[in-house]
Amino acid sequence: MTNIKMRLSTPTDIDFLWDMLYHAIYVPEGQTPPPRDVLKDPSIKRSLTDWGRTGDFALISTDASNQPVGAVWMRLFDETTKTYGYIDAQTPILAIALKPDYRGKGIGTLLLEKILQEAKMKGYKQISLSVDPNNPALRLYERFGFQQVGINGTSWDMIAKLK
Ligand SMILES: CC(C)(COP(=O)(O)OP(=O)(O)OC[C@H]1O[C@@H](n2cnc3c(N)ncnc32)[C@H](O)[C@@H]1OP(=O)(O)O)[C@@H](O)C(=O)NCCC(=O)NCCS
Repeated sequence: MTNIKMRLSTPTDIDFLWDMLYHAIYVPEGQTPPPRDVLKDPSIKRSLTDWGRTGDFALISTDASNQPVGAVWMRLFDETTKTYGYIDAQTPILAIALKPDYRGKGIGTLLLEKILQEAKMKGYKQISLSVDPNNPALRLYERFGFQQVGINGTSWDMIAKLK
């Protein structure tokens, strides 16, 4: 897509990341999105609480005016901080979302390519995520080699091996 750029996140992107976390929550076709307060749910908010810990890494996509339009991030958790998609303390969990008008144009593919490269460079053996199997994003994840390894409520835990 023309004029879309990608950059490393900075500390001032934190509000945008929270916004993207809200957008990453799956809303089935025809259903009303949850209230913004859903971000206070303990297992959801752990995805970004205290952002800036060792290992935290995010990429931001921006438009021609340098406004953020999407983000992908990865983060390590442990038994006390874990959230959806948790496998173990060595496996970062990935999350991704774009603003609605920017979906389906290849931006998510670019963000995923880049963060998987980065995860490999950092020496991680695998990376995980959580997705509702009805979310069309599942196809994208499968194209990148993610495979289902478990189920948590209605969401699938998926892992991609990083060779
Ligand atoms: C998931 C998402 C980041 C993918 O980025 P994208 O730029 O739209 O994806 P691309 O254009 O690079 O690739 C297309 C793939 O994205 C997924 N996709 C496209 N539109 C989507 C949408 N509105 N919602 C969810 N996934 C979508 C599909 O897997 C699609 O593959 P297909 O063409 O075989 O159907 C983006 O669509 C999005 O923000 N969706 C809403 C938030 C979300 O579901 N996040 C993931 C939570 S686990």
